[in-house]
Amino acid sequence: MHIDESYRWIGGFCIEVSPVPNGVIIFGASGDLAARKLIPSLYSLYTRKLFHEKSFVVGCARTPMTDDAFRAKMEKSLRERFKNIDETKLGIFLKKLYYQAVQYDDIQSYRNLDAKLKSVALEDQLSPGLIFYLSTPASVYVPVVNLLGETGLVKENHDGIPWRNVVLEKPFGRDLESAKKLDRELREVLHERQIYRIDHYLGKETVQNILMLRFANRIFDPVWNNNYIDNVQITVGESLGIEHRAGYYEQAGLLRDMFQNHMLQLMSLVAMEAPPSFDPHCLRDEKEKLLRSVRHFPLKDINKYIVRGQYTPGNIDGQSVCGYREEENVPADSQIETFVAAKLFIDNWRWQGVPFYLRSGKRMPRKLSQIVITFKRVPHSIFGPIRSEDLAPNVLVLNVQPEEGLALTIQAKQPGPKLCMGSLTMDFKYSSIFDGDGAPEAYERLLLDCMLGDQTLFIRSDCIELSWELLTPVLNAWQDKRTDAGDLLYYPAGSWGPEAAEKLLRADGFKWFAN
Ligand code: BG6
Repeated sequence: MHIDESYRWIGGFCIEVSPVPNGVIIFGASGDLAARKLIPSLYSLYTRKLFHEKSFVVGCARTPMTDDAFRAKMEKSLRERFKNIDETKLGIFLKKLYYQAVQYDDIQSYRNLDAKLKSVALEDQLSPGLIFYLSTPASVYVPVVNLLGETGLVKENHDGIPWRNVVLEKPFGRDLESAKKLDRELREVLHERQIYRIDHYLGKETVQNILMLRFANRIFDPVWNNNYIDNVQITVGESLGIEHRAGYYEQAGLLRDMFQNHMLQLMSLVAMEAPPSFDPHCLRDEKEKLLRSVRHFPLKDINKYIVRGQYTPGNIDGQSVCGYREEENVPADSQIETFVAAKLFIDNWRWQGVPFYLRSGKRMPRKLSQIVITFKRVPHSIFGPIRSEDLAPNVLVLNVQPEEGLALTIQAKQPGPKLCMGSLTMDFKYSSIFDGDGAPEAYERLLLDCMLGDQTLFIRSDCIELSWELLTPVLNAWQDKRTDAGDLLYYPAGSWGPEAAEKLLRADGFKWFAN
């Protein structure tokens, strides 16, 4: 049963702070991320008056290019992204873009960049905050940061103002050891307060809404625990495959690509305690505590807790698609996983005994990011002969994407006979209230926060370390082909993963909500 509601949106608070002047320096400016996400997000911030009039962008990459050529390239992607773009605003924004060729390992390049930054900032007699966005392969993070350090580009004056922040995309290492090493090396040049580790899921509106839902409402917390909740499921599925990213994906695999970051971050937001305030320290302290409470996978019988798979040829939306091993540049015997399902437990008072089932995969039937909280059944049915096990449990679904919203299923009387009831879903969709253009892109939020010097939605090094502590033994067991680690299983593209992922839940008397 489903009821179409007409919603009322009643007042509220809307606080957005405008940033001071900033220079955003994008390393890897000739790449896809800059053209598709970063520059459009900065433009969008500019149109929302959240990119200071005196802020500017310097694109950096290896290829020599003039400012004008860079502007023309970015103009093309802006026009593709924004239909009916405002010509005046576009013209002004493009003038804020500059370009400087940089060989990442050549100190002279950084001196030239320094000179360029000074000349751009001087035009406005500014001393702006500087944000170095490393949209480059992770292998150059340390050399780039070292040279930024050597040339004084990331040296802050006092108290971190004006700031010199460095933004890093994942991967943050590939296991515990390499993550620690990366952190040590970065910290030789930068303070933790200067390092912005991006997890773009944290910039999504619906992911931020998890905190609002839990901590701006009183009704959820009393039932948000093992007395009332039976199990929690988090699914992040994509219908896409690896999209010409074999080079990266063959080194990563799904566990590193999605679990170490997005999946564990979503789980932290669902399960953490209320922080005393919504600030970077308090929020990340709670996440750290939560991640510390996640029970490590048992060294024996890992396969009873975690299942991995790889897609074979199949069908999605009526289109046949190739298997992972047939993708461009993937070896025919690749052992890389494109799907993982796991059962996790959190060892604390709130969650003891509640399984958290996490699953993510490429080439699933559709794109879906969803958190499903299933409550326990009523302890006793007063509606004999209907038994308590006949009454469906309440389910709260937080839809992260693509149909953003939330839905609560309850039991309710159906008109007619005296003992007539069924499940009723109260379904709230963001799109029924906010038009699609209203919701900022995840990168918009995160870039704005960098320009405000706010690390709340960025990942702190201790959280990175804790997630690797949890996952590295699994990666090792897979790599060593330990017998109890379980085999790489296969699933046809267009399915929800291998059968073993279903069994993982079936063994506990549950099933995946979306299938
Ligand atoms: C990225 C992963 O972090 O997230 C990609 O590297 C994945 O493999 C992407 O496709 C999914 O992001 P979104 O926002 O499309 O769900």
